[in-house]
Amino acid sequence: MPNLSHVQEIIQDVYEKYKDIHEGEVATYIPELAKANPDHFGICLATVDGRLFCAGDCEEEFTIQSICKPFAFQMALEEFGRDKTLQHVGVEPSGDAFNSIELEPRTMRPYNAMINAGAIAIASLIKKDSREAGVAAFVDKMERAAGRPLRIDESVYASEDATGHRNRAIAYLMLNCGIIDSAVDHALHQYFSQCSLLVTAQDLAMMAATLANMGTHPLSQERVFDFQCIKDTLTVMFTCGLYDHAGEWAYRVGLPAKSGVGGGIIAVVNRQLGIAVYSPRLDAKGNSVRGILVCKELASHLGLHAFEFTNVGSNFMQWLSS
Ligand code: DON
Repeated sequence: MPNLSHVQEIIQDVYEKYKDIHEGEVATYIPELAKANPDHFGICLATVDGRLFCAGDCEEEFTIQSICKPFAFQMALEEFGRDKTLQHVGVEPSGDAFNSIELEPRTMRPYNAMINAGAIAIASLIKKDSREAGVAAFVDKMERAAGRPLRIDESVYASEDATGHRNRAIAYLMLNCGIIDSAVDHALHQYFSQCSLLVTAQDLAMMAATLANMGTHPLSQERVFDFQCIKDTLTVMFTCGLYDHAGEWAYRVGLPAKSGVGGGIIAVVNRQLGIAVYSPRLDAKGNSVRGILVCKELASHLGLHAFEFTNVGSNFMQWLSS
């Protein structure tokens, strides 16, 4: 079992093991994302008591993309409660791609808040009266979870806005079905802005560790998220966070997680740590190739799977202090 001195070594070894994997392609469907350096690779692990273990490009900025979705869902749950939020989005894995154009046949809700349809429905819910105020509220929450000031990449925003016709189609379908209100452009502005937030692997690890730490930031000790809603958010991440790879992920890694087409991926080990990987080469499902490999390896090496028989209580944290 690893202790404190071994963890940095393990992270470094995993980094070395996968650094020469060049499979996958950077996302190009949003033209600005095609400019990402495909070789960037960073692994970062943050514990609930604020220790950081990093290897590679952990301070390189990239856009959060779909990793904004669980945090926006959390914000909706906090502001509107479970009942109202679930009038707009379900909690069922769709088994389909992130941008699929489909709604639950009976309720006409999007299947869940991790796919684009659900995230746009959530963006419509958490948007404020002005576009600026809604984006500012999201950025503020993310800054407190990361523990540092963050900003939107305006070029990526403009690129998403200029090419996001499929998201626009999904939004209008939901307007037609009464899932979102008629301020469609406003909701899409909120969604595209959320996706265009610049973060580093270190930021994402801290955000994930804040979820793991029942909503309290490990270093500032600020209560960022309402812990009573975190169970809902982590559950939907567990079942739906990797889209049509979600079952395989739950089987192999066994952690609530979320990926983004910017190349980021986060995983949460409840009450113990947050994991973030940044590597922009994606597989055909839009998930980071090295991100998945690293999470699989860490989960197996450190015994992090939710149903690992050795994973009792906060055993990783206990190893660290042994
Ligand atoms: O909706 C989109 O196309 C993007 N802004 C976000 C998609 C994304 O990150 C999908 N995740 N793997």
